[in-house]
Amino acid sequence: MVDVDWQRLSALAVEAMERAYCPYSGFPVGAAGLTADGRLVSGCNVENAGYGCTLCAECSMVSELVRTGGGRLVAVACVNGNKEPVAPCGRCRQVIYEHGGDECVVLMPAGAMTMREVLPGAFGPDDLGEVAGAPRLRARGGGARAVPAPSRTEITEEGRDGTVRRG
Ligand code: THU
Repeated sequence: MVDVDWQRLSALAVEAMERAYCPYSGFPVGAAGLTADGRLVSGCNVENAGYGCTLCAECSMVSELVRTGGGRLVAVACVNGNKEPVAPCGRCRQVIYEHGGDECVVLMPAGAMTMREVLPGAFGPDDLGEVAGAPRLRARGGGARAVPAPSRTEITEEGRDGTVRRG
């Protein structure tokens, strides 16, 4: 496991948590991540009157990750309103997995655990490449990026032989 300054990462998560917009649940969450190139990114939950439109703190954090140059997450800490570690929800584990993979370490209430442990057998970018006709992936900025989706017309035109034409 990578050597992580969990105190610093948790402090950043607490800072983010204190900015959460959670009028409906009253449950603020902050997330902070360390990237392979040493950057720190963070995010808070942002709720919505349409409850299902709520953005989790981890999603906000990943948005900042991508906005600030992408790269790989090597460690993630999430905290609740008591400034204690909180387990990322299932959807957020998937979101973190995309940008950190199996080796990314997450601070769980029980201690640091790898993504391999918290999301075993995860579905990820590599799985997409195993199906003919699925979008191929290319590396850019340290993370896997899907080739832009073809337009509807292109989708209509392909399909017979499985190749996707791109303008
Ligand atoms: N929440 C997060 O931000 N991340 C998680 O992993 C779990 C849940 C938020 C969503 C909602 O605003 C509040 O916590 C209560 O579920």
